[in-house]
Amino acid sequence: MVALPEAQAEEKVLNLYSARHYQTDEALYEGFTRQTGIKIKRIEGKEDELLERIRNEGAYSPADVLLTVDAARLSAAHELGLFAPVTSPTLEKRIPANLRTGDWFSFSTRARVIIYAKGVIDPDQVKTYGDLANPRLKGKVCSRSGSHPYNLSLMASIIAHHGEAEAEQWAKGVVANFARAPKGGDTDQIRAVAAGECAVAVSNTYYLARLMRSDKAEDRKTMDKVGVVWPDQRGVGAHINVSGGGVLKHAPHREAAVRFLEYLASDQAQRYFADGNNEWPVVAGIKIDNPALEALGKFKADSLPVASLAMYRAKAQIIFDRAGYR
Ligand SMILES: [Fe+2]
Repeated sequence: MVALPEAQAEEKVLNLYSARHYQTDEALYEGFTRQTGIKIKRIEGKEDELLERIRNEGAYSPADVLLTVDAARLSAAHELGLFAPVTSPTLEKRIPANLRTGDWFSFSTRARVIIYAKGVIDPDQVKTYGDLANPRLKGKVCSRSGSHPYNLSLMASIIAHHGEAEAEQWAKGVVANFARAPKGGDTDQIRAVAAGECAVAVSNTYYLARLMRSDKAEDRKTMDKVGVVWPDQRGVGAHINVSGGGVLKHAPHREAAVRFLEYLASDQAQRYFADGNNEWPVVAGIKIDNPALEALGKFKADSLPVASLAMYRAKAQIIFDRAGYR
């Protein structure tokens, strides 16, 4: 690499496009600036808008790094050709192989768990995602939209493990069990279960942890009424989704961008993910201090490669549509 003085001056800035809107990420980024002297200019946006924006900016895009949530979205960025390949021994050593690809990397994980109304549902009846389709839960299941990436990724994992025919049977079974048409976000499903509007739902773990750690008595009361099950512990393990990112193809500050990704895999940054946003670090052996994650306990996570979630995303939508899982 030719090191022109101007180029060196430019290395002091990193343009980050982020779809993570967590307040705690501020501290995460400050840590990088303290370590490297590189300032982070952050542009926040909604997930799909950011992809669109980078695409429209094309070769003139100032974006160095894109951070977003959900494996399917990260793959969409890959398929649009937005990312540049990254070879980093640090990232390869720290991030497990199933949680990275050639151009994007996961930095934290979240599990999609089954929640149930305590005292109404026997947790033994909801031990697997498959159980959600069991007719004995008729009229008892709440869900957010089948078009939401979190559910599409869950469906993609079911297709990957059990095949399309079984996946479609499952979707139809869940739809037949709906207490109401899908609506709202994960937190709305948790509240609906607590309120008795339905008795079973799925949710990402950090929403549960957020309510558990909330200052509002009402949130903690909600959690008192809700039990959490780690699905498929005797099978493939609980479905895992990720937040992650990659270096963009037209990144003006490529070197800083790779350093930033490596920073996100550092012990310090990994702890921020866990303690700040109630996610699990991807790096093994990180000591975290988060009472809610501790209360949720240990579990077996599905080790399906994140790239497989992407592979079946389109199929997942087709099957949900066919099953009437709107
Ligand atoms: Fe979320």
